Amino acid sequence: MAIDPLRMHDVPSEAGVATARAAGPSVVRRAEPVTGHAPGGGLPLMVLLTIPSLVTAWGLPYYVLSLAQRLRHPLHPVLKSSGPLGLAFGALALTMFLFMWAYPFRKQARWLAWTGPVGRWLDVHIVMGLSLPVIAAVHAGWRFEGLIGLGMLAMVIVSLSGIIGRYLYTHIPRNRAGLELSLEESGAERRVLLTELAVETGLTPQELERSLGLDLRPQAGSGIHRTFARLLTDDLARWRTLRRLRREWSRSPRAQTLQDGARLGRALRLARRELALSQQVRLLDATRKVFGWWHVAHRPFAMTALLAVVIHVVVAVWVGGVRFTLPGPPR
Ligand code: HEM
Repeated sequence: MAIDPLRMHDVPSEAGVATARAAGPSVVRRAEPVTGHAPGGGLPLMVLLTIPSLVTAWGLPYYVLSLAQRLRHPLHPVLKSSGPLGLAFGALALTMFLFMWAYPFRKQARWLAWTGPVGRWLDVHIVMGLSLPVIAAVHAGWRFEGLIGLGMLAMVIVSLSGIIGRYLYTHIPRNRAGLELSLEESGAERRVLLTELAVETGLTPQELERSLGLDLRPQAGSGIHRTFARLLTDDLARWRTLRRLRREWSRSPRAQTLQDGARLGRALRLARRELALSQQVRLLDATRKVFGWWHVAHRPFAMTALLAVVIHVVVAVWVGGVRFTLPGPPR
């Protein structure tokens, strides 16, 4: 029989929690982290944004000039798109851009599992996607005319729309590897979370459900705007509930164990995951639908950027702006 993750009777039994308490926290099965996997990539993103930003700051006197004035500037040989620095940024941007297409490929190709979980690949996709427009802009000398201007525009749109996609992605229940959880798996995950939370806080599952103030009624999806409004409202409600829980639990005589700051922190992390999961499941159909539409909108811009980049590279090599020369024998 399928488990309905929203049903109240799906909370763990007192007996189950008592067994888990007796076994001790180290034996209780650990719940998945909040967004399926720990998000990473902050440092690489900072590096990939800092380097082109520093070059831009250094070359600013050159970049503000018109095309004709640039020809006479001492930085022109280095910073022009076909100069050593400009070309290095171009090659990096092209490599990163082509790598962006490896993510959808990895998602389909299970035999590539040895390269790491899909969630990690998405982290790399996001780091590259956010820094790519700035790196490509340095290669283009911060000028966006003609075909490459169209490519840049498409790339910026894909990048910005990616932020929305990532938001929707994190509102669909996932496991550690980044794969979607089914309703049954989400229900089982909620039970694990409530058991862990009961062990951590010393409260009963029923007290916890009351304390968390869970609203378990399914939400029917109704269009993009209402779904986004609901998701944002849920995020805000979760943030408010967690603040209230911090206050209540740190003072509650029923939750003595939470006087310890580290334990309170752990309990709040579990509570956040439980709240997020029940909100996600409640709105799952609507979020999945909007995420599906997002995919449809994301793809044509990504394809436009790809087409513009391919034409640009072919023309650059063919017309002769870029020459790949091998060093000849010494004369
Ligand atoms: C030049 C930049 C980018 C390109 C060319 C690009 C390209 C793509 C492509 C081709 C897909 C697969 C679409 C599909 O399966 O229908 C995809 C998916 C995705 N991208 Fe990007 N992307 C870029 C930037 C970004 C950025 C900056 C983010 C986040 C901040 C992002 C987040 C996502 C997400 C969340 C998905 C869907 C993941 C999934 O459903 O598993 N992308 N992207």
